[in-house]
Amino acid sequence: MERSQWGTRAGFILAAVGSAVGLGNIWRFPYVAYENGGGAFFIPYLFALLTAGIPILIMEFTIGHRYRGSAPLSFFRMKGKAAEWLGWWQIFVSFVISTYYAVIIAWAMRYTFFSFDQAWGTDTETFLFADFLQLDVAPGETGGIVWGIFVPLAIVWIISLGILLAGVKKGIELANRFFIPTLVILFMIIVIRAVTLPGSELGLTAFFQPDFDRIWDPTVWVAAYGHIFFSLSIAFAIMITYSSYLPKKSDITNNAFITGFANSGFELLAGIGVFAALGFMAAQSNVAVEEVATAGVGLAFVVFPQIINELPGLNGIFGAVFFFSLTLAGLSSLISITETYVAGFSEKFGLSRKVAVLVGGGAAALISILFATQGGLFFLDVADYFINQFGVALIGLVEVVLVIWIFRKATDLQAHANLTSDIRLGGWWKICLGVITPLVLGYMMFGLLTQNLF
Ligand code: PFF
Ligand code: NA
Repeated sequence: MERSQWGTRAGFILAAVGSAVGLGNIWRFPYVAYENGGGAFFIPYLFALLTAGIPILIMEFTIGHRYRGSAPLSFFRMKGKAAEWLGWWQIFVSFVISTYYAVIIAWAMRYTFFSFDQAWGTDTETFLFADFLQLDVAPGETGGIVWGIFVPLAIVWIISLGILLAGVKKGIELANRFFIPTLVILFMIIVIRAVTLPGSELGLTAFFQPDFDRIWDPTVWVAAYGHIFFSLSIAFAIMITYSSYLPKKSDITNNAFITGFANSGFELLAGIGVFAALGFMAAQSNVAVEEVATAGVGLAFVVFPQIINELPGLNGIFGAVFFFSLTLAGLSSLISITETYVAGFSEKFGLSRKVAVLVGGGAAALISILFATQGGLFFLDVADYFINQFGVALIGLVEVVLVIWIFRKATDLQAHANLTSDIRLGGWWKICLGVITPLVLGYMMFGLLTQNLF
């Protein structure tokens, strides 16, 4: 059967950007930057982007384009069985992530509707944990399905699997052509509203104020590298899979730069929007920005509802736009992680796309129901811990060491990328991949193992 292909170059870039831009940009980046030197964080951040993020993106795009397969098949074609397992490991991690990423998108979808009348009331924290997630049931009584999560979760999976069933061009590409421009417009609205709120300057000052002393702290560099990996969706089999659908004539290196900078642009935009809103919140409650600044679930589902409560005028709409943006950003990432195992299974077992989506995606959807039960947040924590410990940094490290040092593919991949692009990869690319990235990631893993960095 002929391999599916993207219809246009923009289609591929939008899909890659759609994968990269996700919850990490909106709820993770702003706080990571703020905690790690504010304005000064941009130095390690840009360094990590240019020495690891974009070089690895170029490598993964080249691998997919050259070997034309999902991650396991591409690695198999690169070096046989000795390499194939790496693709399966990446796919396994992607599979696990997809089961809980879907749940958070489901929360965001439900909160979009809560926004209109601020159904969360004034005590947004109790609402989230007790009323919405139903965590306050006695142990032993847990296990029931929380329908308020189950229903949006089912919708999330129906949309995502429906898009994947429609194929690469008619499904993934078309969806991202709609999702990403919509997301950018909605997010611009949020940012403009946020920076025009009273007190926003307090938040922006907290966010941008550089603390240059922090640059000498190795944990800041580790945070920058860790974030770049997660944020660019590298080492998850995604970018290899997506680039395997590129037509022969495609400018790989250029596409990688565009994807990397677009993702960072979105992070910066999110940082401005989130911190401007936090400044407003701090001013309203007469506390320092420090008191309200946070990340993750707490930021999106506790603090943002409070901000929405306080907004002067049209707050229901602002809230809905915020949560709908989270939903869109999440969906395009979920589609990309799910495609890694859809492609992997269909190639390995000779299944049609339809069967692979229904079996692979269906299995992930069933498992994700665990997170929609009372006490489901507990499983979510376990899953997230598992991924952070054994996921990103380690796979990235193994990937570059295998490809560059064990299989010695740097020269071959460099030549392949250079055939496609007017941006020529020089020796710097090999140094970034072969030396800088392994050193930094090795240091990160060492820190994880000895537990004194985290
Ligand atoms: N890159 C996405 C973000 O920044 O939110 C997160 C992500 C999506 C990571 C999919 C990994 C993944 F497989
Ligand atoms: Na990202």
